[in-house]
Amino acid sequence: MLFVKELLGRHTSRNFFRNLLGLRVQGARQKGSGMKYREPRILISGSPEKMALKGANLFTDRARACVNTRGNFFVALSGGSTPRRMHRLLIQESYRSEIPWGQMHVFWVDERCVRSNDPASNFGAAETDFIHQAPIPAGQVHPMPGEMAPELGALKYQEDLVSSFQLREGEFPVFDVIFLGVGADGHTASLFPRQNALNETEKMVVAVKGGDPDVSRLTMTLPVINNAMEIVFLVSGKEKAGVVKSIIESGDQGLPAHKVWPVNGVLTWLLDRDAASLLTR
Ligand code: 6PG
Repeated sequence: MLFVKELLGRHTSRNFFRNLLGLRVQGARQKGSGMKYREPRILISGSPEKMALKGANLFTDRARACVNTRGNFFVALSGGSTPRRMHRLLIQESYRSEIPWGQMHVFWVDERCVRSNDPASNFGAAETDFIHQAPIPAGQVHPMPGEMAPELGALKYQEDLVSSFQLREGEFPVFDVIFLGVGADGHTASLFPRQNALNETEKMVVAVKGGDPDVSRLTMTLPVINNAMEIVFLVSGKEKAGVVKSIIESGDQGLPAHKVWPVNGVLTWLLDRDAASLLTR
């Protein structure tokens, strides 16, 4: 499948290729459906610093591999505090000179509807941490329009995805890597428990309200997230140990993070020792 995508030289929805080949692929997490049950890859580090190093290594390796084989790299970042340590590493040697910045296209999984200079802005934080020093061509950095009216901002970002990935009607983008975090309540991106956004099947980006800070937000939807080639959860701290155990070791209990499962890609958990402390296997 990857070969076909590389041959065509464009980054588009896997649904298109599945339809082309007459395949019908459902979520690979369906135990007992006759499909292979894929375990996530779980990498546990001794400290948040070591976890950040693993994240930066993964980021660099994936970016180089994608650019070498296809000429570009599409990544989506999350907000929150956990990824910041990794983001700051990316701009330091030896990562800085290893990363193919010129071929990178950076998007955000979610954003708080605030100005980019607001301390709550996910883009603003990443901008401070590495984007402002990274030689990424300006047109390849895609902040979510947090300053717009939320519904309008969601539409605008969807349009950005459609044109950046050259999508046709009904197609969803395929990111090379999507980085996610998890809240102690099981939210991920800005997909919060019991919200309608969890059931979205058509829109790529929706406006929601909630979280901490409790503000309007924009978030990518599950069909976009689950279409990625690799989803990487980056989770640190004892306060996340309970939810990490529940997500990794229990079946779907309705928490947003339970619903994250790449249709055709790889799921990787980067945990520090505290976040992994309640795992039993
Ligand atoms: C956001 C997020 C959110 C975050 C988790 C974990 O904008 O808030 O993208 O899903 O990843 O809340 O946040 P921490 O890393 O701060 O624990």
